[in-house]
Amino acid sequence: MNILILGGGGREHALAWAALQNPKCDRLIVAPGNAGTAAIAENARLDIEDGDAVAEFAAENGVDFVIVGPEAPLVAGVADRLRDAGLAVFGPSAAAAQLEGSKSFTKSICDAAGAPTAAYAHFTDLDAALAHVETQGAPIVIKADGLAAGKGVIVAMDLETAREAVRDILGGQFGQAEVVIEEFMSGEEASLFVLVDGTECLPVGTAQDHKRAFDGDEGPNTGGMGAYSPAPVLTDALVEKTMAEIVRPTMAEMARRGTPYSGVLYAGLMIEDGQPRLVEYNCRWGDPECQALMMRLGAQALDLMLACAEGRLGAAQVAWADDHAMTVVLAAKGYPGAYDKGSEIRGLEALPETSSEMMFHAGTTETEGKITANGGRVLNATARGATLREARDRAYALAEATDWPQGFWRSDIGWRAL
Ligand code: AMP
Ligand code: GLY
Repeated sequence: MNILILGGGGREHALAWAALQNPKCDRLIVAPGNAGTAAIAENARLDIEDGDAVAEFAAENGVDFVIVGPEAPLVAGVADRLRDAGLAVFGPSAAAAQLEGSKSFTKSICDAAGAPTAAYAHFTDLDAALAHVETQGAPIVIKADGLAAGKGVIVAMDLETAREAVRDILGGQFGQAEVVIEEFMSGEEASLFVLVDGTECLPVGTAQDHKRAFDGDEGPNTGGMGAYSPAPVLTDALVEKTMAEIVRPTMAEMARRGTPYSGVLYAGLMIEDGQPRLVEYNCRWGDPECQALMMRLGAQALDLMLACAEGRLGAAQVAWADDHAMTVVLAAKGYPGAYDKGSEIRGLEALPETSSEMMFHAGTTETEGKITANGGRVLNATARGATLREARDRAYALAEATDWPQGFWRSDIGWRAL
């Protein structure tokens, strides 16, 4: 089968790496890909948010199955366009991707489904929003509605920060004039990944990531500086509770509204006193969580994503190994602020590449035989082991063996679990 993966980050390199382990994969194209995917598959230049362009490319190249990595093409309706063209697609419709695209939409689904989440209110009027902040008090959480690449969330520990955030958002800094004001939830955060084919739901792993840039969870928020799977806090019993109280009721509500969900559902959870509550849904694999999950799932990841796309999840099962995986993000110095592009990365060819150790590429490009940095998050040192400690030691050994003076990484990924 010919497979097209849309995206160009570490997540997509990991998806490509897993797909290639499966004998069903004949030809693999990644658009736009990166230097890592170029080494194992074909990269293609393509506007991945243009559904017509992707459908045309798929037809010209005999593509049978499309895996959509990032949220933007999903929210733009690329999966709908490809399904209309008769292709098997992994990723939800634009209507279902609203679970990530609109925070107030997700809140209304949770309300209708009775799923536990933070109490909230939605405002477009500045004075009304400010008055609400005064009555609620701090800590309080202020969110710009719509996709804001994770940057639209302000966890305000004091009232002045909250007021300022409300003024910024309703003043249009994030390109929208809507704000969701939420109750602050304390507890431990973890993520549950569930495949959904409209009706059936199959949990495929848990993970925890580290959003802050620096050790000790200090510094600015990022897309994620490292992750590990499984998340010890999400015991089997808690996964079942989350499925019963949050995931299945919300997926049933989506189907009832005529917008069934198909693809991977990423449930960001807050767990306190044994009770999970939903922080947010994303409509895609997490990045870098996907890298750790793919390393654990291996070749079966493709079978599971196909079963999901073809509505066969009811008969699917995950073959679990009793293992742990960790991914450590190597980022360009300065990230998530300003950083330089174009620095050369050396030593990659000497790194081991096995079923349990991989340096996945994120923002890299190859020019004249040299691998150079081309983004903020650049490489993802990923490893698996019998214990999390073993996975961590192997992942950090990959990072240490890389010769890239312009990069940095956190040294404490997994501290909570270890
Ligand atoms: P989101 O974009 O909704 O995932 O929010 C980004 C991060 O903000 C989450 O991963 C949490 O760490 C934090 N956060 C969001 N909502 C809440 C909440 N209601 N209470 C506490 N922390 C939150
Ligand atoms: N690592 C967080 C995310 O993918 O949203």
